[in-house]
Amino acid sequence: MALCLKVAKKDAQKALTALRAKGAFCSQYEVGHEGAFVYLPIRTSAKAWATKAGFGAVMKKALKAAKKRPKSLRDELDGVLSPAELEHLLSSFDIIGDIAMLEVPPPLTSKQALVAEAIMRLYPHVKTVVKKTEGTGGQYRIRPVEVIAGEKKTATLSRENGCSFLVDLNRAYYNPRMSAERMRVIKQIKKGENVLVLFAGVGPYAIAAEKNTPAGAKPARIIAIELNPDAVELMRKNIALNKCKKIEAVEGDVSVVLARPSFYLWAERIIMPHPTEALRFLPPALDAARDGAIIHLYAFGPADRPMEGLFGQAQEIAEKKGRTLKLLAWRVMQTYSPTLVQVVLDLEVSTAS
Ligand SMILES: C[S@@+](CC[C@H](N)C(=O)[O-])C[C@H]1O[C@@H](n2cnc3c(N)ncnc32)[C@H](O)[C@@H]1O
Repeated sequence: MALCLKVAKKDAQKALTALRAKGAFCSQYEVGHEGAFVYLPIRTSAKAWATKAGFGAVMKKALKAAKKRPKSLRDELDGVLSPAELEHLLSSFDIIGDIAMLEVPPPLTSKQALVAEAIMRLYPHVKTVVKKTEGTGGQYRIRPVEVIAGEKKTATLSRENGCSFLVDLNRAYYNPRMSAERMRVIKQIKKGENVLVLFAGVGPYAIAAEKNTPAGAKPARIIAIELNPDAVELMRKNIALNKCKKIEAVEGDVSVVLARPSFYLWAERIIMPHPTEALRFLPPALDAARDGAIIHLYAFGPADRPMEGLFGQAQEIAEKKGRTLKLLAWRVMQTYSPTLVQVVLDLEVSTAS
């Protein structure tokens, strides 16, 4: 027999939402239905609360046991964390290779060991759990982490779209959440293009541009420029690891490297994944762009009107260079803060007539 809350059908959804929010719903049983009533299984510990909640009577009823399904992190931590804590944790949670990475807000520090144990129980391939200690920052855009469980390491091998990337969370930027966006851009590459990847990090765009393009649409050459020497070292290893033949990794500042005469009007496609600095580096990128080149520009815009001003600013910069930009597509990629969102703009460059 299961302890449950008997509610009228019309009130069932509201009651279920309240039970879940309170952590009072018991997922060991299925919800029962009989005539005009629904029987919602509840945890024994929630009996007093459910009795007072006013949705209906608390009683015992024979309910079917819930079908076994693979446990999720949500199930593992149900009862360990409050629903709000759980949502926060899940929204920050990523697995990169054999490292699980999460955000632990200060009030949850006392529970971090329990959380890490649950993660390692649920994902046996995870060898290390790290927590983010600061926001993404500095010129190299690194988001530092600290090991809270398992092997003391921050380097791992991440797999994405069939490519492998050596990454080190404390030495170079890498974001697995960008993998679908990388594929969106890579799918646009046309046969024989010269592709310039600025702010190339450990090489995920450059390597995908060679490995994930179909045989009939391979670029001619890919030049990947990155300032952080550690990222360049990892990128060179990743180029070898993925047996890429068309990529040249160049260490240096984008504006300095692109000032070399060999880059003038060289590129048919330019990828600029550095949202905090994209507009500052647009002038050298425009110098490197042939007529008809496509620039994939990542930038931040206000959450309520993401495109307002952004395209105008880009166009103004282009006009000073005697170029014009056509906005082919844009989309919001992620919310960065309550007031800022990250957007990507696909821009076609031409010479002003
Ligand atoms: C947001 S990360 C993107 C990295 C990579 N494209 C990715 O998606 O994983 C920006 C990168 O730009 C690099 N960077 C910052 N300023 C730079 C500059 N002036 N010239 C070249 N690279 C720069 C940082 O070191 C960092 O690796």
